[in-house]
Amino acid sequence: MFSKKEIKSIRNQFPILNTIINNRKLIYFDNAATTQKPKQIINSIKKFYYKINSNVHRGAHFLSKKATEKMELSRKRIKFFLNAKSSHEIIFTSGATESINLIANSISDLINKNDEILIPYSEHHSNIIPWQILCKKKKALLKIIPIDNNGNLKLEKFKSILSKRTKLISLSHVSNSLGIINPINKIIFEAKKYNILVVIDGSQAISHIPINIKKINPDFYVFSIHKMYGPTGVGVLYGKEELLKLFSPYKYGGEMIKKVLFEKTTYANLPFKLEAGTPNIEGIISTLEVIKFIKKYSIKNIKIYENKIMNYATKLLNSIKGIKIYGKVRSNIISFNLKNIHPFDGGQLLDNFGIAVRTGNHCAQPLMRFFSIPGTIRISFAIYNSFEEIDFLFKTILKIKKIL
Ligand code: ALA
Repeated sequence: MFSKKEIKSIRNQFPILNTIINNRKLIYFDNAATTQKPKQIINSIKKFYYKINSNVHRGAHFLSKKATEKMELSRKRIKFFLNAKSSHEIIFTSGATESINLIANSISDLINKNDEILIPYSEHHSNIIPWQILCKKKKALLKIIPIDNNGNLKLEKFKSILSKRTKLISLSHVSNSLGIINPINKIIFEAKKYNILVVIDGSQAISHIPINIKKINPDFYVFSIHKMYGPTGVGVLYGKEELLKLFSPYKYGGEMIKKVLFEKTTYANLPFKLEAGTPNIEGIISTLEVIKFIKKYSIKNIKIYENKIMNYATKLLNSIKGIKIYGKVRSNIISFNLKNIHPFDGGQLLDNFGIAVRTGNHCAQPLMRFFSIPGTIRISFAIYNSFEEIDFLFKTILKIKKIL
């Protein structure tokens, strides 16, 4: 658990937290959309353009070698951070969305007519549409894992849907709209009985819950660096090497080939086979600072602190008359509605008080339809949020209720 002094010193590393919005100091509760960035990470990007800028894997010159070295070091650090087997299993993408799209495209050869792909009701659109398209292309069937009124997966129902025809299950580790922690260990355990491939979208877990890939044992685990205090435009696809080896490339171009003849092209080894084109080099290199930052405070301690914040916020919010919080056991996200107040109006009024939240369907339209609501107000926490900010949120909601 971090002390007040530690939280203050953490906050001092995030320049944006001093911003004044509508005459109030910013309270940033939209961390599930993207986290803010500490100085070290901003400086690392600046340093790249001041001192290292060059393309990777291509030049014989000093700068290119240095950029390549740093990019590959970043891959290694991510491998260690996840406790994966090999850095060949770490593919850089533009974000979790591209990682899922890559899998859905490249796995196409392994999916046949009448195969089944399973996703839960509660997924983000980026974990629905790529599978919908794949199923359409291969004449496979997209099946939906049902949820209960608290947004939890119906495990017994899930087990009853599994069969020899099920080829793949894709689900989020933590739901982006409700913050529910899905029972991924149980899902993977059941899936392995049928040799079903499992894709986990770890976007909302990666900077909040310790991840040990060898222990969890998914086939694929994807996330975005911008949700872990890093820059936008960098994503990671972890995949088991033996599976990634079977993948056809999803993008074609430079850096992913062995030999190009007009008659036929052969592809490079992993990970390069799946990384065509110039990547977000400065973003990938700044990931070295991302890992350093998270390791300094440790995910274990971050989780303990965020849980305390969550419990405190949940208790205060639950005391407000007419509030409905969706989902029971959650990670760092609270999705709620206030009786007779449209979530958009609620969010707008919170913004008037300098409080940044997300409102709407959170890219999860089927889930909103399930609850028969237009959307929710979503607050989501990160390491720099404080108990005082929760107190202010609480008082502001009470004020808003009076205004509307
Ligand atoms: N997926 C991000 C969110 O849930 C953008 O807000």
